Amino acid sequence: MSDNVMGYSDLLMDHFSNPRNILKVKEEEYKADGMGSVGNATCGDMMMVWIKVDKTSEKIKDLKWKTFGCASAIGSTSVMSEMVTENEGMTLDEALKLKPKNIMDRLGGLPSIKIHCSVLGDKALRSAIHDYFEKTDQKDRIAVEEAKIVCNCLNVTDHDVEEWVLEGVHDFESLQEKTKIATGCGNCRPEAEKVFQQYYDKYFSDAEENN
Ligand code: FES
Repeated sequence: MSDNVMGYSDLLMDHFSNPRNILKVKEEEYKADGMGSVGNATCGDMMMVWIKVDKTSEKIKDLKWKTFGCASAIGSTSVMSEMVTENEGMTLDEALKLKPKNIMDRLGGLPSIKIHCSVLGDKALRSAIHDYFEKTDQKDRIAVEEAKIVCNCLNVTDHDVEEWVLEGVHDFESLQEKTKIATGCGNCRPEAEKVFQQYYDKYFSDAEENN
């Protein structure tokens, strides 16, 4: 459980104070096999991840990262870097399945308004793996996550719903205030509620473990 200043766990504070696996050399000196970066315009966070991959076993033998982010982004990415490289490293397929919830569980929780920060490292890692697939002529392994429109009247997609859940919107009425979803003809409401609930459960339900 979160038990420190601002609801941060001791483990997160430890990783924030002593972040592991930060890239300390110039990018060209590190000679990564894959590099990914993501930014979050809302809070100004930016995350970059570099990986080295054993071509035979497909295990991530090393991971370095850098961020211009908050304590949660730093702590959660530091923890993620350990999870990915410990025990001789995750395979690329295992790393692609790593979810923010796995990182949050390891950290002992995060203040809910900071959940989106743990997603940054996760997204940057996925982007670095996709970059590796590109460079090794394996583009067919890149999963394209296309946005699906949930509400045609207001042009709201499932990605929009996910982003707002991660930004701290935890009930459907608040989602409507932010996006106006299902405030036109109203026909999409059952589907919109379902999509909202799916994302809420994905990130905040304790019942759904590591799926
Ligand atoms: S389709 Fe969403 S309000 Fe009409």
